[in-house]
Amino acid sequence: MSGESVGIDPISVITTKRDGRALTDAQIDWVVDAYTHGVVAPEQMSALLMAIVLRGMDRREISTWTQAMIDSGAQADFSGLSRDGRRLVTVDKHSTGGVGDKITLPLAPLVASYGVAVPQLSGRGLGHTGGTLDKLESIPGWRADLTVEEMITQLEQVGAVVCAASPGLAPADRLLYALRDVTGTVESIPLIASSIMSKKIAEGTGALVLDVKVGSGAFLPGEDDARELAATMVDLGERAGVATSALLTDMDTPLGRAAGNAVEVAESVEVLAGGGPADVVELTVALAVEMLTLAGVSDVDPAENLRNGRAMDSWRAMITAQGGDPDAPLPRARHTDVVIAEQSGVVARVDARAVGDAAWRLGAGRSVPGESVQAEAGVIVHVAPGDEVRAGEVLFVMHTQTPERFAAARAALVGAVDIGAHTPVVRPRVIERVRFGA
Ligand code: URA
Repeated sequence: MSGESVGIDPISVITTKRDGRALTDAQIDWVVDAYTHGVVAPEQMSALLMAIVLRGMDRREISTWTQAMIDSGAQADFSGLSRDGRRLVTVDKHSTGGVGDKITLPLAPLVASYGVAVPQLSGRGLGHTGGTLDKLESIPGWRADLTVEEMITQLEQVGAVVCAASPGLAPADRLLYALRDVTGTVESIPLIASSIMSKKIAEGTGALVLDVKVGSGAFLPGEDDARELAATMVDLGERAGVATSALLTDMDTPLGRAAGNAVEVAESVEVLAGGGPADVVELTVALAVEMLTLAGVSDVDPAENLRNGRAMDSWRAMITAQGGDPDAPLPRARHTDVVIAEQSGVVARVDARAVGDAAWRLGAGRSVPGESVQAEAGVIVHVAPGDEVRAGEVLFVMHTQTPERFAAARAALVGAVDIGAHTPVVRPRVIERVRFGA
């Protein structure tokens, strides 16, 4: 589209939504295209985004908005993948972002160990949530930027690839996301759903499993909002011909014990070696079951390939194929400090958001786009809900290369653990499954 369309202009699009009316398909196609080409100004798009946050969009509008973002760029195609003369099915996983969420690291090689191809296009950290690419870059030599040809070769030979999305996929989303980030317009179900699904559909995966987070560490903490987000994304995926399912999972408490970069890789390797924290194993296996089911592989227990070393073999092949050395020691922080319990009792809650903020302040995340992160930075969480603690016991160990960051991280962690007199009711990691038609 040229950025012009008869009878449509930025102000009428903004006022339609401002006044609570649905946008037409023509208005949506025009405004997304015109913004991508610099015809609609950022201040106009900001006004429209805020109107969408406040007024919402119906499923038809969300679907048209998503397609317009897909149409702004190229679409990848993995339908021709094969190994030993057999067509390879592709399945991907996307998490809405959490604290300590390293699940992609054990999950992609685990699913690939069953002969399914996993093209996992991942991102970098955003605010208090960590980024898969930042974590993997703590492995000496590993690189995130692959050409499409390299991705295809790796998928056919190794089965799993975790790499950066090409800038040509859904460029409208990249522009809109940057604007939303600085205009207070991230927290909107239509905008989050269309942002995530435009990238996933453009990426060309055959099937997709969504891990939609609920709780303090999630972008949309409330369970009802998370359920609506999950149902909206499943609907978008299925209508675009991508077999899609979603799990709602708890993100009130950090996942596992480690939040940061190298510390999360180390924990993932423990899981691939058949150990690791029970909640990380539980979620990895639950998501693997979903992915394998969508890929047509049933009657397997994915925990088996964690125990027998096949998932670890896939991991080593995946890291090596991207230039990494799976045997190299991971970077370790020069400085550590602890946060201790001020009182005795039973841990009622460990606040995921506070732990994410602390890891970010220690240097695991960025304050401005493009900033480098510290591979060594992070938080190790020593307690979980239900644990008994005594005053003076260690609750958290903070890791950083720059000790002047400890004070800010400590400020985030003080009060992050609620200690009470009673054993709390602990919500399971996997809260519910959301299928098409919900
Ligand atoms: N992740 C995305 O890709 N987009 C959003 O809007 C939120 C999280």
